[in-house]
Amino acid sequence: MKLLTPNSSLLTPKLALAPLAGVTTLAVREFFSDHGADLTHTEMISCAGLVRDNSKTFDMLRTSSRERDLIVQLFAPDEKILLAGAMKVREVCERFCGLGINMACPMPKITKNNCGAALLKSPATASAMVKALKSEFDLPVWVKIRKLERDIDTLNFVETLAAAGADNVCIHGRTAAQRYEGLADKNIVRLAAENFPGLISASGDVKTVEDIQNYFSFGCVCVMLARGAIANPFMFEEFHGKFRDNDERVEILIKFATRAKELSGEHKALVAMKRFAGGMLKFSQGSAEKRRLACTSTSLDEITKILRGNTSS
Ligand SMILES: Cc1cc2nc3c(=O)[nH]c(=O)nc-3n(C[C@H](O)[C@H](O)[C@H](O)COP(=O)(O)O)c2cc1C
Repeated sequence: MKLLTPNSSLLTPKLALAPLAGVTTLAVREFFSDHGADLTHTEMISCAGLVRDNSKTFDMLRTSSRERDLIVQLFAPDEKILLAGAMKVREVCERFCGLGINMACPMPKITKNNCGAALLKSPATASAMVKALKSEFDLPVWVKIRKLERDIDTLNFVETLAAAGADNVCIHGRTAAQRYEGLADKNIVRLAAENFPGLISASGDVKTVEDIQNYFSFGCVCVMLARGAIANPFMFEEFHGKFRDNDERVEILIKFATRAKELSGEHKALVAMKRFAGGMLKFSQGSAEKRRLACTSTSLDEITKILRGNTSS
């Protein structure tokens, strides 16, 4: 049986690509590993699907040697299914350097099965899940949660996870009821980072380099880029002081498209390219028409021409 390998580099502050369902595929993770992310996450992966040997679920476990530190994020309703799923992961893959548990997803198709943010209402189950992974694996366990209505409830929940042995707790400062709307509450992240030094990661409204610096200034050990990384796939590099001109960005994205096609086929590659192109063209001057064309293009060849055309405008 292949063993997952613990990685002590997870102990230093990290700039991470957040888990994003439907987005953080292997090609996308490779892209961000190449362009400044210290750490990436898989999409959230169903333990029930792994236990049923669902091939689409197993597909999400594909990794490559081009990736840097990688956390596999799992979701399950309880510790038994979580552990069974995590053991399936261990059977097929040795590249993960941490195990993530999703206690944050607010979508009804997840919460109705007592997974994701539904676990915020069951601290005992949440605790048992962390303990189950810690007792079976010699790997960091990272839990991602949402802010609860009251600060004290959020802090108590973090304390429960810490007592169970969680190595990291990422707080997305929106309540589950907010889903992805409204502003993320950064204050609760700051409060938690002050109360639990070395434990807290931040998520929510990371749109600029200043947002990243702000979260690190609270004492967060990791800042996770989500929609901000889609809108500006070069934000990781910008954080590290590396700036590229538009021509260079376009060529890098076109290279990404080629790799994404190789891994997942033209359709998925085009969807990913449209996401990045839409974000990239959003703020460049006079690009509304280019953006419209890119977002409605029907092939990689077409979007490539549109993007290259944009560089000379
Ligand atoms: C399309 C999409 C998919 C997401 N999928 C996941 C997921 O699989 N697991 C998870 O913990 N969070 C997921 N999230 C939440 C993000 O990781 C992040 O916490 C959230 O978007 C807040 O950050 P932002 O305001 O900077 O986008 C998802 C968010 C989006 C927009």
